[in-house]
Amino acid sequence: MSIKANKNLITITTKNTSYQMKIDELGYLLHTWYGERIEDNEDMSYRISNMDRGFCGNPYETMDRSYSLDVLPQEYSTFGNGDYRADCIQVINPDGTNVVDLKYDSHKISKGKYELKGLPAFFWEKEEGESLKVNLIDKVSGIRVELLYGVLEKYDIITRSVRIVNTSDNVLKIKKALSACIDMLDGDFELVHFHGKHAMEREFERSPLAHGKLVLESKRGTSSHQQNPFVILAKKDTTEIYGECIGFALVYSGSFIIETEIDQVNQTRLVAGLHPEQFSYVLKAGDELVLPEAVFTYSNGGFEKITHSFHDAVRNNLQRGEFVHKHRPILINNWEATYFDFDADKIFDIALKAKSLGIEMLVMDDGWFGERYDDTKGLGDWYVNEKKLGSSLKELAKRINAIDMKLGIWFEPEMINEDTKLYREHPDFMIRVPNRKGTKGREQFVLDFTRKDVRDYIRDMMVKILDNANIEYIKWDMNRSLSAVYSSNLAAESMGEFHYRYVLGLYDLLNELTQKYPSIMFEGCSGGGGRYDLGMLYYHPQIWLSDDTDAIERLKIQYGSSFAYPIGSAGAHVSASPNHQTTRKTPFETRATVAMGGTFGYELDLNKVSKTEQKMVKAQVKDYLKYDELIHEGDYYRLTSPYDKSRVTAWQLLSKDKSLGLLSVVVQSVEANESNIYIYPRGLDENAYYKIAEEKRRGKVWMSGGLVLPRIKEEYESFRFEIKRV
Ligand code: GLA
Repeated sequence: MSIKANKNLITITTKNTSYQMKIDELGYLLHTWYGERIEDNEDMSYRISNMDRGFCGNPYETMDRSYSLDVLPQEYSTFGNGDYRADCIQVINPDGTNVVDLKYDSHKISKGKYELKGLPAFFWEKEEGESLKVNLIDKVSGIRVELLYGVLEKYDIITRSVRIVNTSDNVLKIKKALSACIDMLDGDFELVHFHGKHAMEREFERSPLAHGKLVLESKRGTSSHQQNPFVILAKKDTTEIYGECIGFALVYSGSFIIETEIDQVNQTRLVAGLHPEQFSYVLKAGDELVLPEAVFTYSNGGFEKITHSFHDAVRNNLQRGEFVHKHRPILINNWEATYFDFDADKIFDIALKAKSLGIEMLVMDDGWFGERYDDTKGLGDWYVNEKKLGSSLKELAKRINAIDMKLGIWFEPEMINEDTKLYREHPDFMIRVPNRKGTKGREQFVLDFTRKDVRDYIRDMMVKILDNANIEYIKWDMNRSLSAVYSSNLAAESMGEFHYRYVLGLYDLLNELTQKYPSIMFEGCSGGGGRYDLGMLYYHPQIWLSDDTDAIERLKIQYGSSFAYPIGSAGAHVSASPNHQTTRKTPFETRATVAMGGTFGYELDLNKVSKTEQKMVKAQVKDYLKYDELIHEGDYYRLTSPYDKSRVTAWQLLSKDKSLGLLSVVVQSVEANESNIYIYPRGLDENAYYKIAEEKRRGKVWMSGGLVLPRIKEEYESFRFEIKRV
């Protein structure tokens, strides 16, 4: 049993960790522990010591001036009851006041996992994990807050969510409603977070926390390129393989906030959830509001342990569908090969060459529909442009299938251009504030996905296409941020629900289509990795990692993304050199080494590369197929960081039974009169013998002595070493 209630203590235990809360004498739910595993009857509240502190108020019902919610660690912080730190919930009561005072009411432990209506969430069977619900109520306003916890013991994973129920007869307005709060009594924490921009997502940054707040957020309607809803709270001395840290993520794809704060007595708080600046929710009598799931894991073994827990849990207990644990076809995408300039013959020629080199699927990207000759028009007209293609889609699919290749196509279902049949016939489908022109992004506007009729209309167009040609893959793109939102379906007082309802609408359509077409493989995309989050990974086995295909820049993008997200969920392609985004020239083989740090594919016209390079493709495909399972199911190790001074970036994959591994090294810079470079593999069986680079040594020797990298022959050279137990 991983959840135990013992008098007024509730303790959650996983394989290596414990999480504890306590109902105190006034009925408040305090957070007493998250860290190393303890026994469930060990009351960790002894670490809390109260003291009469100036300007820290006391609840009316106590005579104790040393009792103050302003410094006590809480499970769900509220606004208006004397805690001035980051709060999880703010409510406007019918009389205009905004006090929320939540007290423990009841709890229930059950087997299996709670479900969140309309939202992606981790799942497991009854025998795999338990759930806990703690009801808190504010008797005056009639708000019931149901705190939901899920425990995936074997991976040290705890999930949280919240259901807010209005049990009163009044209408309440929820101003802020976050998913989770983590209070730490001591510790000098830093925050590891992942910022970026289009074509350079998830850059690693480690920032000290300060008294006051460090806030990460997206207000773009998507989780965004700029910030990612995954962070790590880490002690100052924590490294990749040593020290305490907590990995925390939201299972959500829209605007979010993660607030971290050090309070006046040096305690650390993290709260996270829906971005409050873009949120208000009218909760009528009897209604409920379900909040996105948060997931976290504690590690006393550095970042690597967090990564292993997240990767295992995400691919086994979050991602759905037949492709998660199945071979995903090696694809060639025509975007960087042709951009908008293609017809069916050109696509077929690319497919034919690719097929002869072992590639399994052709993906026809943007430009096959409507009047889509460039990026100024056509989005929303999901009918095949047979004039441009010179063929029907059905015919093209037939031709491609006839050479034993699969066909995939690109969609951007959430978007509309003004120059379309869709806009001319249904201008109200587009998000536009009355009397305002709004902002364009890539000349396009966003559809009102809060409306079911709009979603149904788009779905019907897509279904028509999918039912008429043998399409086996969809790239679901999204190429702008939301701004100036409005829906004719929402009353003025409910407009604050727009962002949240947009994401629910998106999930609804994704759910419908992925269920209807279980054997179509979906790949997510938002101008590359602008929506690379756990919400999207629930629907997509993989997501196009970045529009930046430069192998050297990708080292950083893949490094940052790997902390939380399984590397097999990252779409990674070999593209042309000089690279289209950076103009950098890199060796063909290095581009493949880097693309094998994700789900492998190509994005160039292989008719245009040299015969030698074509031969290399054949060998690369063979190599990838050999390591396919390792890449998708193995443990991932970041051996060096692309941000360090070291001249190389190295990473390693190792099968769960430790018998097979792949060690990849990319040279980032060269120098004269160079010194030796040692690469230290990890995770090997110490006493087993392993062959690496034709040499046989004991696991322990490899791990402590390292592998001496052969002399570097050229800039940006790369190495792929097989690790084989012998
Ligand atoms: C986005 C995607 C690209 C490509 C283009 C097509 O930028 O990330 O991969 O599909 O759109 O317009």
